[in-house]
Amino acid sequence: MKTHVLRLSAVLVATLLFSTFATAAEPVTPKLTEKLDRLLREEMRSIQSAMGQVHSAIVMGDHATVAKSAQAIHDSFILQQSLTDQDKKDLMSAVPEGFIKLDKEFHQLAAELAAAGSKNNTGKQLTIFNEMTQNCVQCHEEYVSDRFPGLSK
Ligand code: HEC
Repeated sequence: MKTHVLRLSAVLVATLLFSTFATAAEPVTPKLTEKLDRLLREEMRSIQSAMGQVHSAIVMGDHATVAKSAQAIHDSFILQQSLTDQDKKDLMSAVPEGFIKLDKEFHQLAAELAAAGSKNNTGKQLTIFNEMTQNCVQCHEEYVSDRFPGLSK
């Protein structure tokens, strides 16, 4: 009887573990080189601070700041700047294609947000800001679950 219950709970635990791994992709962070890890964290912190500035600017109708800060987010695209060819190779071998795709999408949205800023279009700014926030959550949920356990699916 006891062993039966034990075996049953072992199966349950295994199933739970399996479903956790099956839904979320493996975290990318442990596979990053020290340099990429540092660059990515720097990029994330500057994105976060620019998102805060954009948010305040949207609610105050300060379109010029929306355009400027959104452009700064777009330009922080690490894949396009501070990386040497070797870094790029390291990055590509550390992260899956889905990660790169999300990063590109995110920076594309930042460009659209800058355009909505230049056009004084508050409604559009709100929509894009929301889409960008969903993008942050999606990438963290799928690829950074080790650092943000509160987001793991
Ligand atoms: C394409 C994937 C991706 C997207 C999109 C993304 N992040 Fe991240 N984020 C990461 C990764 C990977 C890390 C962990 C970096 C590390 O530990 O090396 C991270 C870490 C962070 C951190 C912690 C930085 C630190 O100092 O450790 C913050 C803050 C952050 N992200 C904010 C944001 C915000 C805000 C957005 C959206 C506006 C966003 N991220 C969108 C991948 C992403």
